[in-house]
Amino acid sequence: MNISELIGEMTLREKIGQLCQVQPNGRDQEHRVRDGMVGSLINVTGDDAYFYQSQAVEHSRLKIPLLLGRDVIHGFNTIFPIPLGQAASFDPRAVRTAAAIAAREANSAGVNWTFSPMLDVSRDPRWGRVAEGFGEDPYLVSLYGRAMIEGYQSEKIAACAKHFVGYGASEGGRDYSEASIPPRQLHDVYLRPFREAVDAGVLTVMSAFTDLDGVPCTGNAALIRDLLKIRMGFGGLVVSDWNSVTEMITHGFAGDEANAAFHALAAGIDMEMASNSFLDHLENMIAGGEVPLEWIDAAVRRVLEVKQRLGLFDEPYGPERTGIAANDALFNARSLAHKSCVLLKNEATLPLGEGIRRLAVIGPLADAAADQLGCWVFDADHNRTRTVLSGLRERLGDVRVDYVAGLPHSRSNDEAGIPHAIEAACRADAVVLCLGEDADLSGEAHCRAHIGLPGAQQRLLEAIAGTGKPIVTVLMAGRPLVLGPVIERSGAVLLAWHPGSMGGVAITDILFGEEPGGRLPMSLPRSVGQVPVYYNHKNTGRPPDQKGPAIPAGTPLDPSGFVATYIDEDHRPLFPFGYGLSYTDFTYSDILLSTDRMPADGQLKASVLVTNTGNKTGNEVVQLYVRDLVGSVTRPVRELKDFQRISLAPGESRRVEFEVEASDLAFCDIRFRQAVEPGEYRLWIGPNSASGPDILFRIE
Ligand code: BGC
Repeated sequence: MNISELIGEMTLREKIGQLCQVQPNGRDQEHRVRDGMVGSLINVTGDDAYFYQSQAVEHSRLKIPLLLGRDVIHGFNTIFPIPLGQAASFDPRAVRTAAAIAAREANSAGVNWTFSPMLDVSRDPRWGRVAEGFGEDPYLVSLYGRAMIEGYQSEKIAACAKHFVGYGASEGGRDYSEASIPPRQLHDVYLRPFREAVDAGVLTVMSAFTDLDGVPCTGNAALIRDLLKIRMGFGGLVVSDWNSVTEMITHGFAGDEANAAFHALAAGIDMEMASNSFLDHLENMIAGGEVPLEWIDAAVRRVLEVKQRLGLFDEPYGPERTGIAANDALFNARSLAHKSCVLLKNEATLPLGEGIRRLAVIGPLADAAADQLGCWVFDADHNRTRTVLSGLRERLGDVRVDYVAGLPHSRSNDEAGIPHAIEAACRADAVVLCLGEDADLSGEAHCRAHIGLPGAQQRLLEAIAGTGKPIVTVLMAGRPLVLGPVIERSGAVLLAWHPGSMGGVAITDILFGEEPGGRLPMSLPRSVGQVPVYYNHKNTGRPPDQKGPAIPAGTPLDPSGFVATYIDEDHRPLFPFGYGLSYTDFTYSDILLSTDRMPADGQLKASVLVTNTGNKTGNEVVQLYVRDLVGSVTRPVRELKDFQRISLAPGESRRVEFEVEASDLAFCDIRFRQAVEPGEYRLWIGPNSASGPDILFRIE
């Protein structure tokens, strides 16, 4: 298909049509599609998707195929852990596979465009959308973004890097709020995953709702047109977010719909989602000379090129897809859930021995099939969902498992069921207590000011703890929660996030000995007052702990120290980024460098000896962090640069080696250049962001 020739044949109205994405109500857009007045539909699947595509490619004048968009965020029929849980896997390859499976399933239902991955670096767990992203670290977010993009696009559905940009910094963790991000931080932290996404060949980008320093992102020409399209070289299409074009009126940035359409198009938005300002106003504005035709042509070209790159002109219904193996999808969902679960505490309570004769399974999330799937789930095959209760019953048999929900749902304050839960606990050898958040406590527009356990769940936990039985608390949640009181009262705590279709069996596997593989992609705060708390912060002139996080947990801090902390709260998170236990113990020693000096375009090798000192084979995520000690601008106290997942047998030692490229240490310097600076650096290799042996080197 020659795109220039096609554009040459199009009427102005057909061109404007390509810039519109609409959500049909049933088949009410049939005529508009036949008239060539729609470029994309959102939220149509199955027969409706087939119907609309056929109207476009068989009955419209120019037979231009439709982009059929859907929020396929963490699976389609088979649901994988929420993206934040996937991030805990520290396994981008597994995430890529999950995305490819989701794409196959979605594409077989007619979807050829997913609004994923969400690349908003997020450091405020109050924000409901932390569930949809990959956490607080720009490097990790970038890796997973690339993995998902490759996974989706390898299966012929377009990925969408969203939300461009800064949505994760919404003030106070309130959705849709304004964000203020200093330019250097914007460059190093928030833009980085989008640079990677462009490099990975992402076909589409979505603008954010956010008012970033006074300009709504959807109308921000400096960001979309100049930075994303020209400087970063993004060649795909930019879609607005839902109504974000006309919301510029409410922001106080556009006077009316025509003005909003003007701002969006001028900024580089190629397709308007949901609202109709392009359809209703662009034609007149062109006639009046307010909008140049070249703007429309440039946007149409991008839309058509994405369709071409997806192969839609040749295969508008997607490739023939036969035999999508549910078993394969479920196997991968189970294995990704194993890797996503983070073991936070284990006082020798786990794994449960086969000697358990009777188990009490308690809690509102033990058998909550829909809730364990998490947010943004529209197309799940609910027959595939396995809860913790079903997993445990299958393993132990019905007779040995006593189930009492205790509370009707996670937010409930109805304590009538607690006495039954206590009775079940008293009869059991151990209790598996499933607590946390319902699915609809996270996701878009679901922010929380109080991020402890909702409802009467803590009281349920206290009551069960009162029985003196060993308690394994399994937490399902869409965000980092404040967990101090949960940790205190439980023998073991497993953070499973919202683990998806196979969550229940994966958790059962872990309770009985399969290794929990997750490491925290966000710091877990001690209290909401600490938020935002993230590992890669700056040192300040008065750091609370000059030696970094080496103070043993529980040491009282001097409140009169005139340092950067609270007088009534520790400055450290409850659990740091990168943290997660396994069923064995590891030690780190003997850190070595191939050289302690490297040129600004060179590389070095760093290695450490990791030993499994426990008595089980175990998995470890070995993490490498670097700090630039003196820069032309101040640098974070640590930054993750690489990691490896290894497995060691009891007593086994392995030297784990990394290559560090000097170019990986570049940042936005005092003159706003991406530069590697000479000077002294500290490098750590350890099990998380707050420990591990360190060594110094220089860049010359
Ligand atoms: C969200 C996007 C989503 C879109 C389409 C918006 O409200 O912000 O992330 O892709 O809706 O459903």
